[in-house]
Amino acid sequence: MQSRRRLPVLRREAVAATVPVIVGSLLAMAGPAVAAGPTGASGVGDPYFPLAGNGGYHVSHYGLTLGYDPGSRHLTGKAVLTARATQRLTRLDLDFKGLKITGLTVDHVKAVYKRDGQELVVTPARPLRKGQSFRVTVTYNGKPGPVTDPDGSLDGWIPTDDGAFVAGEPQGAMTWFPANNHPLDKSSYDFTITVPKGRTAVANGVLLGQSTRAGKTTFRWRQTEPMAAYLATATVGKFQVKQYTTRSGLKVYDAVDPREAAAAAPVLKKLPSVLEWESKLFGPYPYRAAGSLVDHAPNVGYALETQSRPVYDRAPDLSTLVHESAHQWFGDSVSLTSWKDIWLNEGFATYAEWLYTEQHGGDSAQKSFDALYARPATDGLWAFPPGDPGSGANIFDTPVYARGAMTLHALRTAVGDRAFFRILRAWAAQHRYGNGTTAQFERLAERESGKDLGGLFHTWLYAQGKPSTP
Ligand code: TRP
Ligand code: ZN
Repeated sequence: MQSRRRLPVLRREAVAATVPVIVGSLLAMAGPAVAAGPTGASGVGDPYFPLAGNGGYHVSHYGLTLGYDPGSRHLTGKAVLTARATQRLTRLDLDFKGLKITGLTVDHVKAVYKRDGQELVVTPARPLRKGQSFRVTVTYNGKPGPVTDPDGSLDGWIPTDDGAFVAGEPQGAMTWFPANNHPLDKSSYDFTITVPKGRTAVANGVLLGQSTRAGKTTFRWRQTEPMAAYLATATVGKFQVKQYTTRSGLKVYDAVDPREAAAAAPVLKKLPSVLEWESKLFGPYPYRAAGSLVDHAPNVGYALETQSRPVYDRAPDLSTLVHESAHQWFGDSVSLTSWKDIWLNEGFATYAEWLYTEQHGGDSAQKSFDALYARPATDGLWAFPPGDPGSGANIFDTPVYARGAMTLHALRTAVGDRAFFRILRAWAAQHRYGNGTTAQFERLAERESGKDLGGLFHTWLYAQGKPSTP
């Protein structure tokens, strides 16, 4: 129930039997999982999305220049990736699906490339040394479309009646720009997006400027703090725009489809107070920009915590705004290391909803917990444990959101409020702008509370079926 607004329209009920997955150690922790030697691996070793991301380099910056015509749905793009080799590379992969490539250079020299599904395999004219900085420039165009995720939902470039809803979790970034498409690689971004006059193009971070010439408007956006590719957006539509600066100096940019404006207004108005409340609980808001992007995209079925400025497929309710805002700390600033750890995003954002309700005159978190715990053992809530969803098809299912939040509530009950909120703040602070794993969270919780929490985490995160005691 509490996660329904964010679940995809096509979502199926969670299946009780889950496939056990052998988890390879991820590249960041234990070396290339797919290939060593001078060829960059085709993935970072994510057990659920083996081709996501690539080995052998990190991207520090993406410069994306895009032009979109909503009428013909045609996109032109130029992506400049500034990267650094972490090993000698005779060859490297990018993730890029669909669009036609018209040029590709490495350090301004034409490179040979071939395409194999989502892998764009690049052979630079001369090998890259370990530690070498390099620049990949790709020009491309075509009619982008979304990818279908293992759970049947759409993500990536999703055309709408007046533009496009652009949301990339978990895989869709590669439908509109070539990327190292895994949250392990976080980068800063510049966007220059040109659309017909009268349309607005909204990306992440701060609006540097906009200018109109010859019937077209160009928007320039900058996301300075590190961002995972799936959190990038370049949503286009006919939007009502509102800009203001909060008392604490945050630059807020709201873009709202007029068809959603009346319903959205009272909720969006609360964003500054929600972020302030969350800053008190979780520590300083991680970004210099904020805002909301409310589209009218009935075919999407979910909202996404796009960095600094979530995108909503319709006017959000307050708990959805609280949820996407909480992701700015948990998911965006502290990113997961493997998609299997998705509860670190969704369990935390859902628990933030419970806390908000508790502290604003509604049900206590205990009551939210109790209502879920009362569900029979046959309920979909208990279909699989949140620490082990089993496959990429389950990462947005109820157990991840609801039992994930229950895990945090069980932790809070075990360690007490003081230690619990210290743990949340320490988690956000220690992994700020980086990545974290469930094992690291467990260790942090034990360190901060001085308690052995192995049993608790086992019961709530890993044990199959409904836990026998709340
Ligand atoms: N992370 C989003 C949220 O909870 C939900 C989401 C993003 C999603 N992409 C999805 C849900 C794809 C289902 C399918 O706010
Ligand atoms: Zn979420």
